[in-house]
Amino acid sequence: MSVGPLDGQVAFVTGAARGQGRSHAVRLAKDGADIVALDICSPVSGSVVYPSATNDDLAATVELVEAQGRRILARAVDIRDLAATELLVNEAIEMFGRLDILIANAGVLSWGRLWELSEEQWDAVIDVNLSGTWRTLRAVVPAMIAAGNGGSIVIVSSATGLKATPGNGHYSASKHGLVGLTNALAIEAGEYGIRVNSIHPYSVDTPMVQAEAMADLFGRWPHYLHSFAPMPFRPLEATGEPRSADVLLPGEVSDVVAWLAGPGSATLSGSQIAVDRGVMKY
Ligand SMILES: NC(=O)c1ccc[n+]([C@@H]2O[C@H](COP(=O)([O-])OP(=O)(O)OC[C@H]3O[C@@H](n4cnc5c(N)ncnc54)[C@H](O)[C@@H]3O)[C@@H](O)[C@H]2O)c1
Repeated sequence: MSVGPLDGQVAFVTGAARGQGRSHAVRLAKDGADIVALDICSPVSGSVVYPSATNDDLAATVELVEAQGRRILARAVDIRDLAATELLVNEAIEMFGRLDILIANAGVLSWGRLWELSEEQWDAVIDVNLSGTWRTLRAVVPAMIAAGNGGSIVIVSSATGLKATPGNGHYSASKHGLVGLTNALAIEAGEYGIRVNSIHPYSVDTPMVQAEAMADLFGRWPHYLHSFAPMPFRPLEATGEPRSADVLLPGEVSDVVAWLAGPGSATLSGSQIAVDRGVMKY
């Protein structure tokens, strides 16, 4: 087995059944970490209308992590359930003896103008993205402190956590809230050698991105398109052509997550890292 920058460390990843969370779990395993993978693996709310992750998705993550030669503890847990998340943390400590890295990635999205949202839409997005992330921190941070090895926490916000996105103001509010959590925790956990940073990806190619919902939104309010500009920097493919798709790939976000988890970012805490190919500079 090759030696990676995270050898001997243990990473707790929420929302790990698919999408970015799975990609982060596999990438951190490739870099040497054992993995604790959590996902609800079922519908979150009737107001979240894209397909849910499943137990089979989480099982696929397990296989992919094990293929990297690392151990993984995977459980179907809802981050809105503090007691269940704490149980998983206890199980992880029994199995691995430590927790070094937390990727607080689980989240949900729905669409609608602020004054037209249902209460269920508001509650689901705030309960998962903001309160659920706090519950994740509530469960994991004491175990990281007790392990005594310091560590790195990456909180997955969004471009929407730094700028306005009309059509999902509740999601934007939840992701702005994560900036407050990140920066307060950076100070509070810093004295235990734990760094805390947030990432702010723009559009990433996962099941959360609903092309139809967005097309409907822009059809009704075309001026909202200004808030969803194409990304200015386009990486060149091997052919020398700029990449045509206007989304990030999960693995590209994982590159940033792996850097934040590892020693190369040792001087960063309380930072908001845009993962947006420069689009927020418009
Ligand atoms: N896709 C994008 O364009 C984009 C852009 C910026 C930020 N994000 C954020 O990235 C993160 C990952 O999203 P993704 O794009 O991979 O979408 P995704 O829907 O593929 O993955 C999200 C995962 O979180 C899980 N999850 C949702 N609620 C949960 C809960 N209560 N408890 C446990 N697990 C739960 C889901 O089951 C799913 O597996 C989210 O926080 C999202 O808000 C996404």
